[in-house]
Amino acid sequence: MIQMNLQKRYDAIAVVLHWLIGICLLGQITLGLWMISLPKTPPGLRAGWFNVHKSVGITLGVLILFRVLWRLMHQPPALAGDLPTWEQWVAKANHFMLYLCMIIMPVSGVLGSSFSKYPIQYFGYKLPKFIEPNDALKEILSQVHLYTLIIFVALISLHVIAVIRHTYFQKNTMIRRMWF
Ligand code: HEM
Ligand code: HEM
Repeated sequence: MIQMNLQKRYDAIAVVLHWLIGICLLGQITLGLWMISLPKTPPGLRAGWFNVHKSVGITLGVLILFRVLWRLMHQPPALAGDLPTWEQWVAKANHFMLYLCMIIMPVSGVLGSSFSKYPIQYFGYKLPKFIEPNDALKEILSQVHLYTLIIFVALISLHVIAVIRHTYFQKNTMIRRMWF
């Protein structure tokens, strides 16, 4: 049952998930951007890193699913009352869209890879294939993965700029809401 949260901070599980997933996502984005620049020959190196990316991505997807379920069952602390209305809306919209991107990234990754002719190797374990290869759908999902990434990076940048603004320029304690 959802209860009114009168606390001033996020609960411990929400904080651990926020930082664990946040750090892993930044690593995953860096890995993704680096691996696509790897040469296709000699074979092995590029495919090996692609499989690391897919394995980390699937694991992150499960963590994100757990985070979303946790969030739906636990009301976050109310935003500070002195926050201007426009900022409350921007913060809420930003958080909602961050969640959407967190869901679309792993889903488009898994679906796109399922339409490829190669099986996904989850940390060395070959996953069964349920879907027939389809180059056109694989390409569409690859575009979804890339364009969602661009929006995601913009949202994360806005999010971090907002936290820096609150912490260093407005010198308020907003960061403590999401701290250990
Ligand atoms: C969890 C979140 C994920 C993030 C943040 C992420 C991020 C990225 C980034 C930054 C790139 C390089 C830019 C691009 O070409 O799109 C990329 C490419 C790629 N990712 Fe992910 N990824 C995630 C999950 C996954 C998963 C779960 C899979 C597959 C199981 C996957 C498969 C791929 C593939 C195959 C590419 C190469 C380009 C393509 O075919 O789209 N990703 N990813
Ligand atoms: C990949 C990176 C990140 C993602 C996807 C992310 C995502 C989110 C989301 C979705 C929320 C809203 C939580 C909710 O209401 O359920 C949130 C809150 C928060 N995040 Fe992040 N975050 C990231 C990185 C960071 C970083 C680097 C910082 C610090 C500079 C940070 C500081 C905070 C703070 C302080 C809050 C609480 C905001 C409030 O007062 O309600 N986040 N984050």
